[in-house]
Amino acid sequence: MARVILGVGAGIAAYKACELLRLFKESGHSVRVVPTPDALRFVGAPTWEALSGEPVTADVWSGVADVPHVKLGQAADLVIIAPATADLLARAAAGRSDDLLTATLLTARCPVVYAPAMHTEMWEHPATQHNAATLRARGAVVVEPAVGRLTGKDSGKGRLPDPGALFELAEKVLRDGGTSAAARDGRSLPLAGRKVLLSAGGTREELDPVRFLGNWSTGRQGYAFARSAVAQGADVTLVAANVELPSPAGVTVIRVVSARDMHAVMLAEAASADVIIMTAAVADFRPVTRADAKIKKDGALPPPIELTENPDILADLARRRTERGPAGQVIVGFAAETDPDLDAAKAKLARKGSDLLVMNQVGDGQGFGPGDNEWVVLDSAGGVTGIPRRSKDALADEVLAMASARLGAGSRDS
Ligand code: CTP
Repeated sequence: MARVILGVGAGIAAYKACELLRLFKESGHSVRVVPTPDALRFVGAPTWEALSGEPVTADVWSGVADVPHVKLGQAADLVIIAPATADLLARAAAGRSDDLLTATLLTARCPVVYAPAMHTEMWEHPATQHNAATLRARGAVVVEPAVGRLTGKDSGKGRLPDPGALFELAEKVLRDGGTSAAARDGRSLPLAGRKVLLSAGGTREELDPVRFLGNWSTGRQGYAFARSAVAQGADVTLVAANVELPSPAGVTVIRVVSARDMHAVMLAEAASADVIIMTAAVADFRPVTRADAKIKKDGALPPPIELTENPDILADLARRRTERGPAGQVIVGFAAETDPDLDAAKAKLARKGSDLLVMNQVGDGQGFGPGDNEWVVLDSAGGVTGIPRRSKDALADEVLAMASARLGAGSRDS
């Protein structure tokens, strides 16, 4: 179990950090809460002490004999700051050490996750953006704030992501060797400055106002890719078709329903993407007509459903990808098959024109749902790599690493 430092900045979202603390504790981690002095105006030390079971101080003048301003950071496996205010980001970026939290940040060599929360104007201010970029360049994960209701009646970008989503990201970072190495060496994360565009879930094709043709996709694999990409420092957009999972922290989620909706959004977003991963289960066909009113039985024979073909999003993305020099854009497709066949998968890769195609079996406890999967990854140069059965998160890490390697090496040959 990990030794976690939960830093708390002086923002109204400090109350949500109580929930984050509980999630860490319930998972068996030991957590030392280090608020800034002003953060104690929002949530007091007794609350943090009771929930963490550890003493809480905000300045460097308590328990001096233990040298906490050095020891806490040195011993930590993860520092997560939620909420990170504009002022705290500025002090951290400048390397100040005027309270226990900023001193801890200077001695920590473990991964550091900042979850900024503030008003939209403060977040978008060039000074704050510059500070976030400085911290990212040193290997920190600076999570994009969520969009929604802010302190008052206003809403916009600046909300602290859901504590559950922050916890999932923290767990991901704790398991991720790449994040640790970047933090230790003070260099940026592998996908810092890169945009990753993902599709997830299953499209629905309406028959009438109450019925649709759909599939069993839950979106879990795409969401695992989103967490993996955020932990690698990427700017992540997720196009989600009918997914009921909570949004991952730091991810821009665009919700769609049908294949045609997804086609339009993916092609619009693709222009600025470095890596595109199509995990969505897209309906190949849709009903030719959608009835305006509920289709009735009326004692007659069941009405036939006439279908027409949907656009092939992956093939269109590959066709229309922007050429941006030798490294270009890397596109990854999926082939969910009940009877996986290597030759058929190779033909599909060639037909779609993606750089990688991940073949996985669906059915028999694999594929849709929360369980582990086993994959074969084909590349456009003819390479075939087997990935043994493991969790969706671990699979996402491996395939993202393969995609990033192609990005860096500029080896795209389609
Ligand atoms: N895909 C897509 N648009 C479609 C159908 C599929 O972008 N209209 C994408 C999927 O997201 C996946 C890949 O193409 O990444 C392969 O999907 P799959 O259903 O296996 O292939 P199909 O083209 O539908 O071929 P078939 O059903 O004949 O196996």
